[in-house]
Amino acid sequence: MVLAMPANYGGFGPQRQAAIYQAGRAGQPPRIPVSPEQLEAAAQRVLSAEAFDYVAGAAGGERTLRANRDEFDRWFLLPRMLRDVHERDTRIELFGKSLPAPLLLAPIGALEMVRPDAVLSVARASLATGVPIIASTLTSRTLEEIATATEGGNRWFQLYWGPDRDVDLSLAHRAEKAGYTALVLTVDTPIIGWRDRDLGRGFLPLLGGLGLANYLTDPVFRSRLAKPPEEDLPGAVQQAIRMVGDPGLTWSDLRFLSERTALPILVKGILHPQDAVAAMEAGANGLIVSNHGGRQVDGSMPALRALPSILAEAGQHVPVLFDSGIRHGADVAKAIALGARAVLLGRPYVWGLAVGGEAGVREVIENLLADFDLTLGLCGLTKPSELTRDVLVPG
Ligand code: GLV
Repeated sequence: MVLAMPANYGGFGPQRQAAIYQAGRAGQPPRIPVSPEQLEAAAQRVLSAEAFDYVAGAAGGERTLRANRDEFDRWFLLPRMLRDVHERDTRIELFGKSLPAPLLLAPIGALEMVRPDAVLSVARASLATGVPIIASTLTSRTLEEIATATEGGNRWFQLYWGPDRDVDLSLAHRAEKAGYTALVLTVDTPIIGWRDRDLGRGFLPLLGGLGLANYLTDPVFRSRLAKPPEEDLPGAVQQAIRMVGDPGLTWSDLRFLSERTALPILVKGILHPQDAVAAMEAGANGLIVSNHGGRQVDGSMPALRALPSILAEAGQHVPVLFDSGIRHGADVAKAIALGARAVLLGRPYVWGLAVGGEAGVREVIENLLADFDLTLGLCGLTKPSELTRDVLVPG
């Protein structure tokens, strides 16, 4: 079922519900399961075991993965009644752009293990819904191709900062030129976490050459190779993998980048308030509180619990976004009520992609937007800025 996308998703919830119920009466229940758990189970049925575990899994015993979700249960919403919520508007402003809701698509790499052309499907769903894509460095299509697929839309680029500054800057400048409106610098992945599921299978997608299109087409990267990828692909893949992270990074590298790009930089992966301060001092224009969906440090604190202390340091100065554990509209509402400007959605859109391609991603986004709109209205509120701390009670 395809609904006309509103520019703002205020009032979208009832429309979407009606469409789902009407289709159900006509004998067509949703192809893309609405419940996040059923959606994940449906994706598991269609994906290879390696691909499913790579996306679903997390670091070590996956305690942080679970804690990210459990943390949302430590807060309850306190709905208010009879406050005229007929007209709702879920839009927010961020870096001079209007977003249809406080929502973006988290950067996720190597999606071609889920479906061929996966990232272009995600890009098209982003364009159709207006929810910005944060394109990963690690995609099977170049950032320019993703830009073409999102022409007229709002796109951000996620950058992994590696050991070769010229390559890093080349990627950043390509993103600028291709019309990306912000850079997301991921700082929690200088090395990859210990992931039981992937280690158990001996499976790492990058080693198979997945997700490396941005490097393999980059003129600076190519100038570093003894032979072009067309002549020695395994050699180029090895070299590209070396570009992905750098454990020697410090905050001065952020300063170096911020002085050389016109784009706003959001630093993703902040949990400690002093890191929030260090990031701002080094030129960050925004922060994303995240523990990488629990994929890096098993036992690290749930991202939602870190949010208030980061906001106390940075909330007055730069937008603080939230990532790690968003599944329902109520989760979006809670993170915004705690003070986040917007949230990132991760795994669920990959499950939508697995089950239904571009339409699947679109439906997952639409369901979340509808759920958020209804949650807002049922709490007696009409816009995201009315989600404040007094809407929450501790559980
Ligand atoms: C890489 O960013 C991953 O989480 O797999």
